[in-house]
Amino acid sequence: MTDPVRVGLVGVGIIAETHLAVLAERDDVALEFTVDSRPVGPVEFRGATPPHYRDLTQALDAHRPDLVVLTTPTETHAELTVLALLQSTARVLVEKPLVHDLASLAGLRELDGKADIRGRVFTAHHFAFSPEVDWAAELLAANPDWGPVTAITSAFYDPYVLRGPEAFASYVSSWMDSGVNQLSMLTRFVELTELTSAQQADGGASAWCTVGFRSRGEAGSARLRSSWLTGSSSKESSLVLGRSGVEIWIDHTAMTGFAARGGELLAVFGNDGRTPRKVAHYRPLYASLLSDRPDPVLGFDAAATITAIHRAVPEGR
Ligand SMILES: NC(=O)c1ccc[n+]([C@@H]2O[C@H](COP(=O)([O-])OP(=O)(O)OC[C@H]3O[C@@H](n4cnc5c(N)ncnc54)[C@H](O)[C@@H]3O)[C@@H](O)[C@H]2O)c1
Repeated sequence: MTDPVRVGLVGVGIIAETHLAVLAERDDVALEFTVDSRPVGPVEFRGATPPHYRDLTQALDAHRPDLVVLTTPTETHAELTVLALLQSTARVLVEKPLVHDLASLAGLRELDGKADIRGRVFTAHHFAFSPEVDWAAELLAANPDWGPVTAITSAFYDPYVLRGPEAFASYVSSWMDSGVNQLSMLTRFVELTELTSAQQADGGASAWCTVGFRSRGEAGSARLRSSWLTGSSSKESSLVLGRSGVEIWIDHTAMTGFAARGGELLAVFGNDGRTPRKVAHYRPLYASLLSDRPDPVLGFDAAATITAIHRAVPEGR
């Protein structure tokens, strides 16, 4: 038996519930402490209540965690990552996006040499682990004769209009929140090259962006729509392989998919309905993170590449 991974969780909000549920399933993990800057009720973990702190510095003065998980609002990620890197020896799993602007990315890069950012900083690009994304990536890899992906359309809707200003405080904008999910998901299928256009509307609650990519050596283009102006969550993507006429539809809400060419159904994907969507993302994410070889999509270089595209200002704007 090896010692369990001692985890400190920072930010006891909505997504922390999923992290705690998935961590509680793993017998190689112990929850060492929790942190939240606002008063929150005791956090139960496998029937016990680990020590709770009001700020990360206090927690790191009292504990030596192996992994610090940051599930705080997006604009706090960069600062808390630096703090965890400099005041502990732990690895850091940061909720997506790793940073909210390019200056913060540069700030993290400057720590290279002082702290092992490649060995210690990981970003929870959880959409890249969704089962329908996995299925579609394997399908593409197994069918090279379908040719390159030539066009992608992805639409992510969240009912955050109902949460009002709170949503902006936690997630900043729909592009900040969903754009990074769309981009990290697309890295499973294509090599992203650049943000070619970006329009935000509804005070940041909606976005329409286009991104260039390469697939099997050819250039293609992705259209990314996201919006909070809805009462329900709905997320879908379609991949067109124009040479062969194959189209792959994936429904991220239902975690289903199918591939078709004209009227012919080529492949289908479903699930047994037993695993909640977020658990279906974070279970494989933690399995990968806590393995000997974490998936590169969790790593600092992937986050840096995604951030450079996500936060770019397209030419002509
Ligand atoms: N909600 C989701 O479905 C979801 C899914 C994936 C990723 N995320 C990402 O996770 C992050 C958090 O989202 P959420 O929905 O859980 O937000 P949330 O607002 O529900 O929770 C954030 C928590 O962090 C606490 N906090 C704020 N500043 C802090 C600080 N400096 N130190 C300690 N605690 C602090 C807040 O009090 C709050 O309890 C965001 O970056 C978001 O993009 C959210």
